[in-house]
Amino acid sequence: MAFGIGIIGCGGIGGVHAQAATRAGLPIVAVWDIKPERGEQFAKAHGARACASIDELLAIKDVTAVAVCVPNDQHHPCAMKALAAGKHVLLEKPMAMDVAQCDEIAAAASRARTTLQIGFVCRGSPAARCVKAFIDAGRFGSIQHIKCALYRRRGIPGLGGWFTTKSRSGGGPLIDLGVHMLDLSLWLAGSPRPVRASGATSSGLGAAMRGYTYTWMWAGPPKYDGVCDVEDSATALVRCDGGLTIEMNVTWAANIPDGHLKDGLCVIGSKAGAAFQVFGKEVSIATEEEGHLVDLKPHFVTEDPERQMWDEQYLQFIEAVEGRATPHADAAAGRRVQALVEAIYRSAAEHREVEVAG
Ligand SMILES: NC(=O)c1ccc[n+]([C@@H]2O[C@H](COP(=O)([O-])OP(=O)(O)OC[C@H]3O[C@@H](n4cnc5c(N)ncnc54)[C@H](O)[C@@H]3O)[C@@H](O)[C@H]2O)c1
Repeated sequence: MAFGIGIIGCGGIGGVHAQAATRAGLPIVAVWDIKPERGEQFAKAHGARACASIDELLAIKDVTAVAVCVPNDQHHPCAMKALAAGKHVLLEKPMAMDVAQCDEIAAAASRARTTLQIGFVCRGSPAARCVKAFIDAGRFGSIQHIKCALYRRRGIPGLGGWFTTKSRSGGGPLIDLGVHMLDLSLWLAGSPRPVRASGATSSGLGAAMRGYTYTWMWAGPPKYDGVCDVEDSATALVRCDGGLTIEMNVTWAANIPDGHLKDGLCVIGSKAGAAFQVFGKEVSIATEEEGHLVDLKPHFVTEDPERQMWDEQYLQFIEAVEGRATPHADAAAGRRVQALVEAIYRSAAEHREVEVAG
């Protein structure tokens, strides 16, 4: 019998969690949203109980685990409460607002002796897993450089809402999209320690508010009377122990001609290299065969990469909760990326390369 799950935060990603949990066979026992009507509607759609508070949800015995799907500034308070109540926690990314909060959450998970998994769902990308298998089998040699990018031309989530309010989100695309790219790069490369980072951020399109041409993005259309005090784009060069460098570019909004900069990752190793898109169905590998440089397209099975990513995340969470595996992306992975994000923001503010806190 699968264990029951509670969903905390019934917005955009809460819905994706509910679908993935259902596909994984986990009954959604209860939900809680700070906006009661949203919680009630969501509960109705998923056959769950709508709770009137987080405490009510956490007091339900059949809620063995929770998915924390609230704005970034609410990750720490919600995760701390859930762990103190002895629940297993699947915590959305970024792990928290800063490293100090990450340490408190990790300590709470150790005390609770429950599973804490961070929502680095991109690790479940079929293309990424294909490349990871080649790397782990030693086929790429040592990984020297990873270039990772997610470019959106007009994709600010909920302009004027919590995503674009620094005190609620911690920042813009770096802490939103960059955390996925940085975690994925480090995971692919075998988790070397980031030691130094140089970053730059820019803003203007979002802050201009009415000058921003909205197309579509989650968390709703712009609220022009809201706040936008975060960056539109971020770039970084990260140096890791052992020599790996990571070059990262992420944008929510930028004047990039259509199709002229490529999303995705390029992983360059001493024996082979690969390029792929996180949501893609194809991987390209460059290597040498009998004295010739060749490009290969390894076969792997995927019909719906995004859905598979989410299914993989839930599969791994279930395995961890049921004691058959360690969490997919653990607290150390969440903290490592948080420290790197902090270093990149610090570098951007100080216009110099900085050390990444250990
Ligand atoms: N893994 C991914 O690819 C991915 C994608 C989008 C968002 N996210 C993450 O998911 C989280 C939520 O993002 P979203 O896009 O769903 O935002 P959202 O604004 O659509 O939804 C957030 C929901 O949380 C509710 N809420 C706010 N504070 C609460 C609290 N203290 N207790 C209970 N409910 C509360 C809001 O009313 C809202 O319904 C963020 O941390 C974001 O970074 C992850």
